[in-house]
Amino acid sequence: MDFSSLGFGYIKAPYRYVCKYKDGQWGEGYLTEDDTIVLSESACVLQYAQTCFEGLKAYRTANDDIVCFRPDLNAARLVSSCKRMVMPPFPEDKFLEAVKTVVMANKDMVPPYGTGGSLYVRPFMIGTDPILPVKPSGEFEFRIFVSPVGPYFKNGIKPLTLRIADYDRAAPHGTGNIKAGLNYAMSLYPTVEAHEEGYDENVYLDPGSRTYIEETGGANILFITKDRKIVTSKSDSILPSITKRSILQVAQERLGLTVEERKINVSEISSFVECGLCGTAAVICPVGKIVDQSHQPVFSADMDKAGEVTMKLYNALLDIQLGRAEAPEGWIFTVGK
Ligand code: PLP
Ligand code: COI
Repeated sequence: MDFSSLGFGYIKAPYRYVCKYKDGQWGEGYLTEDDTIVLSESACVLQYAQTCFEGLKAYRTANDDIVCFRPDLNAARLVSSCKRMVMPPFPEDKFLEAVKTVVMANKDMVPPYGTGGSLYVRPFMIGTDPILPVKPSGEFEFRIFVSPVGPYFKNGIKPLTLRIADYDRAAPHGTGNIKAGLNYAMSLYPTVEAHEEGYDENVYLDPGSRTYIEETGGANILFITKDRKIVTSKSDSILPSITKRSILQVAQERLGLTVEERKINVSEISSFVECGLCGTAAVICPVGKIVDQSHQPVFSADMDKAGEVTMKLYNALLDIQLGRAEAPEGWIFTVGK
């Protein structure tokens, strides 16, 4: 496989991890080569979207170790998603063991250090009971598959053009702050429309007042002020990004930058000098332009390359993830060799 020219797509790996919930408890997890799931046509996940997921990556470091970045936080976030979706939380220690097991079983699929690729790890849970009334399932399947990936956005670190969407991805007091498949279903129509109009992604506004910047369909958003302060959205309806939380800590502790997490009014973004998207899949992707609903630019920066602070954050994060810089305590989970 040519690991250096991967995009972000599904490539079937040899093994996946499966664990089933029945009679009020999780069974023994196991690895299987079977990439299919056989379900009743009336399974809760198919009729009422009872599903949630996670996303993390396994990297090969400069020392040739295979590591994951803060998977304990993915385990914890899955628990909060499960609670909101009335699904049985998957035990956090069992989650970490399962990640280790499935990554090691597929270790030949972890892209070598220096290729820019990584092994994307996708844990998810589905309600499997056949049901007809709207109610939660009683039986569940937890599964983790992996796929070698390259950059989420096809141009890698080239600045993106975003549009402010006329649609919402989440509702006030809804599920925007958990990783539920239904949030992504909500974003499909606006995503297709954005692509048809020549934009890379949508920026969503707060669904309550449609005044403040929330996030994009698959990443949180950061802005940089002209005096190098990082400003990022605070909202109950965005996903608490592990990448963002890590970047903000590194920015403050290692780069001496100031961070502000607060509501960001659309009307103020023209005053920012840099913008970036951050997430597991996106890593940190620079944004060169944002337009409003009438296609008028509301934020503009360099369209050829990432801004200076964005690039610093990107390098600091990657250096930690790839073992080139010492990681804060507990951030690197060694999976194996
Ligand atoms: N926001 C959304 C909607 C996402 O899907 C993701 C990706 O997981 C993120 C933000 C970034 O979160 P993380 O950094 O934990 O991957
Ligand atoms: C991730 O970054 O892991 C996600 O789940 C986002 C998705 C758009 C791929």
